[in-house]
Amino acid sequence: MHDLLIAGGTLPNGEIADIAVKDGRIAAVEKGIGADAKETVDLSGFLLSPPFVDPHFHMDATLSYGLPRINKSGTLLEGIALWGELKKVMTFDEVVERAIEYCDWAVSMGLLAIRSHVDVCDERLIAVEALLEVRKRVSSYLDLQLVAFPQDGLYRSPGARDLLLRALDRGVDVVGGIPHFERTMDDGRRSVTDLCEIAAERGLLVDLHCDETDDPMSRHIEQLVFETNRLGLNGRVAGSHLTSMHSMDNYYVSKLLPLMAEAEVSAIANPLINIAIQGRHDTYPKRRGLTRVPEMIGYGIRVGWGQDCCLDPWYSLGTADMLDVAFMGLHVAQMTSSADMRKCFDMVTSENAAILRLDGYGLEPGCQASFVALDANDPVDALRLRAERVLVVSKGKIVYRNPRKSPELALPNRPGTVSRRSGRGR
Ligand code: FE2
Repeated sequence: MHDLLIAGGTLPNGEIADIAVKDGRIAAVEKGIGADAKETVDLSGFLLSPPFVDPHFHMDATLSYGLPRINKSGTLLEGIALWGELKKVMTFDEVVERAIEYCDWAVSMGLLAIRSHVDVCDERLIAVEALLEVRKRVSSYLDLQLVAFPQDGLYRSPGARDLLLRALDRGVDVVGGIPHFERTMDDGRRSVTDLCEIAAERGLLVDLHCDETDDPMSRHIEQLVFETNRLGLNGRVAGSHLTSMHSMDNYYVSKLLPLMAEAEVSAIANPLINIAIQGRHDTYPKRRGLTRVPEMIGYGIRVGWGQDCCLDPWYSLGTADMLDVAFMGLHVAQMTSSADMRKCFDMVTSENAAILRLDGYGLEPGCQASFVALDANDPVDALRLRAERVLVVSKGKIVYRNPRKSPELALPNRPGTVSRRSGRGR
C-alpha cells in the first residue's frame, strides 16, 4: 500500500498522471495507478511541479524590516551599515524565530529548498549558530543550505577570515565572499583566490557575491572563473549578482562568457533586489543593473533566479514567492517569448536545484516525494497568475493545504497572515 496517491495532476510537460508516494519517495508516475493508498488527493485540473528552490537568500536578516530603522537611501551600502547596527544587538532566539517564521512562509509557497548566506562577521557567530539550529529544526521538510558569508569583507573586516573558517568548522556548507566590498580591487582578487583554495581544500561548493556594483570595471568574476579552472572546482562554483556585467564593455563580455561556460561556473541573478538597488547613482537613462541573463543562457551557462531578501535592511517587500522572482526577472531581462518564460519557470525549479546540487530532485520514480500543486494550467500560466498554491508535499508528507481550495487544513503561516511580529515596527 502506498502512503499517498496524488491523482490526476497536470505535469509541467503537459501530461496528466497520478503520483504514488511510498517511504518519502515517488514510487510511480503514470496514468490510472489506482493503487491502494492511505490517503488520496484529487488534483485534477491543477499543475503539479517539483518544488520551488531559492539559490540566494539571507535568512539571518529576513523579517527584520524596520529593525532598528529603515534604509532611507535604498542603497546596498546603507543596507550593509543598517545590518551592522542590528547585528550588534540581535539575539540567537530572535534570529531563530524570524527564520522559522520565514520557513513557514516558504513552505506555504511550495519553496522547499533554500541556499542562505549567513554573515560570519560577528565574534559571537550568533547568526551562524542560529541558522545551524534552524537547519536542524526544518530538515524534515525543508532543505536549508548555508553559505559562510563575510558580509563586511574577508580582509576588510578584522578577524573575518578566522570567523569564516570557524563557521565552516561548525558545519556551514558553502564558501561565500564579497570581493567587490574589499578595500581595493587587488584585495578583492586575492580574496577570490583565498576563498576558492579554502573550498578546494575542504571539498566544498563556492558561491560568492560577485561584482554587485554598477562599476563596469568590477571584474572579479574573471578571477572566479580562473580559480575554478585552476583548482578543478568546475561545476561547483556560482557567482551571485554579477550586476557589473550589465555595464561592462560588450567586447569584454564576449570574451568572458565563453570562459564562464568552459569553467561551468553558474550565475545567480536576483531580479527583485538588482532592479531595486542598482542604478541608484544614475540620473537618466537609469541602468537596470541586472546581469546578462539570456546572453549567458545562450552560451550554455546555468543561470538561476534568486530572491536574496525579504523584509530586511535591503528590501522592504517580499513573500517567499519564487513566482514573483521569476515574474520580475522575465520582465527585466525581456525574456517574454513563450520558450523564455518557460525557461524562467525552470530557473526557479530545476535549474536552481542543479545549482544547489540537490539529491533526488524531480518528478520521476525514485525522486524525493516533494512537489507543489498550483492553480494553473501550465508553467507560463503559473507565472502570469503568480498562481495560488493548492497543496505542498515535502519528503512524502503533506505540509500545506490551501484553505481556499480544500476544506480540511493543516496550515503553516502564510505571508501577511502572521500577527506575532506585527508590533515590532513593520
Ligand atoms: Fe545577497
